[in-house]
Amino acid sequence: MSVLNVSSVLLLLFFYLFPAISAAAAHHPAPRQYTTSSLNVGNGTTLAYLDSGAPSSRTYTTIFAIHGMGFQSPVWEKVLDLAPAYNTRFVAINRRDYNGSTPYTAGDLNVLQNGTVSEQTAFFQQRGEEIATFIELFIKQNGLPAPSADGKTGGVALLGWSLGNAFGVSTIANIQTYATSTQQTLAKYLRGLVLQEPPSVSLGLPLPPQSWSPQIDTSIPAADRQPGFVQWITAYFQHGDLSTRDVNVLEYVLPSITHVPSVFSFTTDQLAGVTNLAAASGGDTFIVGYNQAALLPTYRKALFNKTVRAALPLLNVLEFTGDITANFGIVALWQIQDDDAAAGGGFVKTEILKGTNHFVHWDQPALALSTYLSVFD
Ligand SMILES: *[C@@H]1O[C@H](CO)[C@@H](O)[C@H](O)[C@H]1NC(C)=O
Ligand SMILES: *[C@@H]1O[C@H](CO)[C@@H](O)[C@H](O)[C@H]1NC(C)=O
Ligand SMILES: *[C@@H]1O[C@H](CO)[C@@H](O)[C@H](O)[C@H]1NC(C)=O
Ligand SMILES: *[C@@H]1O[C@H](CO)[C@@H](O)[C@H](O)[C@H]1NC(C)=O
Repeated sequence: MSVLNVSSVLLLLFFYLFPAISAAAAHHPAPRQYTTSSLNVGNGTTLAYLDSGAPSSRTYTTIFAIHGMGFQSPVWEKVLDLAPAYNTRFVAINRRDYNGSTPYTAGDLNVLQNGTVSEQTAFFQQRGEEIATFIELFIKQNGLPAPSADGKTGGVALLGWSLGNAFGVSTIANIQTYATSTQQTLAKYLRGLVLQEPPSVSLGLPLPPQSWSPQIDTSIPAADRQPGFVQWITAYFQHGDLSTRDVNVLEYVLPSITHVPSVFSFTTDQLAGVTNLAAASGGDTFIVGYNQAALLPTYRKALFNKTVRAALPLLNVLEFTGDITANFGIVALWQIQDDDAAAGGGFVKTEILKGTNHFVHWDQPALALSTYLSVFD
């Protein structure tokens, strides 16, 4: 599935159905301030990233972000632009298979589709090690400010968004398997893990039977499933009373007409840069389909294992979802709350962010950034 196909579908929508929106979208975007680079994290693996750069103060904090399925690092371009004004450095990493980062090997893909649970667990350990190594190298090469003595400034956080949370929890869960210098650097600097709308599958948790997505509906022509996902996932959804914590009050299929889906505020160039649907259809599709048994213990270990949490003494964990977002963000928040309670409580703060969807970092970037930073509170 090529990005071109999505672009042409959207062009049609922009120019024939929504002339007012297309006029606004055709406006040339302001030049961006962030830089594009890449880091060699060992074993012949490179990870590309966007970096908002060092703010002028020496007390800033840094957030390392891991994107979701089909959408890559420029999806945070508005947050990258805002970060310096928030005394924050924002670094958005492209995962393996996405633009500028090393593709998976045929062996990796085979493990994701056909591997045993222990092979798949090892796959996520390696991806966690790559991200941990990235963070360590980035801290050292850029001389990032360490946490202050009062613990209120400096240091770093790791942010997973959507399917990126599989990789965020893998980074934390496997801390004790990394090189000593990596363990020590993360123990000293890592003050936060943020889980932004993880779908249940990214954590190995079960989905309600009503779950639906254009990606999995085989009545939709195969070529339309990923572009259909782009339009659906960027929409808003009107749910019933969330205080019931009842999965039956959620809207699983139909977008609401109360808010314009985020996709309509991307220019065609922005959408082409932000999406990589070939990558979504590769390893990520296997991760969603076949890796639950490896991801469930990885997630539980990252959040609720006392030995792991003790190895990262400064770490706060925040999980949040929108209230008018696709159903899965809300389902997972309830599941994580239940797991936290079952583990004794207090391992993770959770929040339902009012008036937001899965793309709060695009539609309301200041709110997204201040929510990320609240992990340090
Ligand atoms: C998984 O195994 C099947 C059957 O051997 C094979 O056809 C397929 O290519 C394998 N998947 C990957 C990604 O290698
Ligand atoms: C790097 O390669 C070694 C040797 O093959 C392997 O044990 C290790 O898991 C690899 N690390 C990563 C992050 O892939
Ligand atoms: C990302 O990579 C894909 C596949 O190689 C390519 O088609 C696409 O043009 C690239 N996108 C950007 C923004 O470089
Ligand atoms: C927590 O993780 C440690 C280190 O990997 C492991 O030895 C221990 O069994 C785990 N504890 C629980 C309760 O799973």
